[in-house]
Amino acid sequence: MRFAPPPLWERAELRAVAGETLRPGGFELTDRAADFIGAVPGWRVLDVGAGLGATVARLRARYGVRAWGVEPSADQLDRAKGAPGLVRARGDRLPFLPETFDALFCECVFSLFDDRPGGLTEFHRVLRPGGFLVLSDLCAVGCPVGDGASCADRAAPLAETDRLVREGGFTVRLLEDHGAHLRDLAARLVWTAGEAASDCNRDLGYFLMIAQKQGAD
Ligand SMILES: C[S@@+](CC[C@H](N)C(=O)[O-])C[C@H]1O[C@@H](n2cnc3c(N)ncnc32)[C@H](O)[C@@H]1O
Repeated sequence: MRFAPPPLWERAELRAVAGETLRPGGFELTDRAADFIGAVPGWRVLDVGAGLGATVARLRARYGVRAWGVEPSADQLDRAKGAPGLVRARGDRLPFLPETFDALFCECVFSLFDDRPGGLTEFHRVLRPGGFLVLSDLCAVGCPVGDGASCADRAAPLAETDRLVREGGFTVRLLEDHGAHLRDLAARLVWTAGEAASDCNRDLGYFLMIAQKQGAD
């Protein structure tokens, strides 16, 4: 019997090159977003698919916000070694009351959702009116949404994500191309670990999107 290898984000090879942030762009994109939305001490912020808890710790330390993270993988939570503020939950079933958060980060996770419109409905529910959605993720370039297991296989075209976010009751405030971060991480993976970021043959990009829940005024 053959066992499928664990996904890349569960593997030591990625941690060896990416560090605690298991994605392209690392804290550079987290800080870019937190600065853009004007995060201030006292804000309540949720990180969905928090991995090892790096963004929660970063936002607490650098911006003084009250940050929590949800992460469904027991193995990731074990590796996070009791990092503060992490709760075991899926991003599309958030254990929080409506309008709890001023901002929600979802970094390199949204592609993995089985039901993306449903996930956005859940993000919209837990954000206050005027609250910010920070989405960074892989996107497919020139090919339709895939159906494999990894985020690379499952990445959707950016236009489709943009449409879903707008239809989900958000106004897009910023949309940036960060494909260079993806190419950099992929090169370091190959160079350091001899590891291809994905064995799929799709042309991929990476983006940062910041959207705002409508209805603040
Ligand atoms: C590429 S890692 C990114 C982790 C973290 N956001 C970071 O940037 O370091 C993807 C993470 O999403 C988590 N994940 C997978 N499906 C999820 C879901 N439906 N809801 C929330 N998180 C999910 C995985 O367990 C994994 O920790």
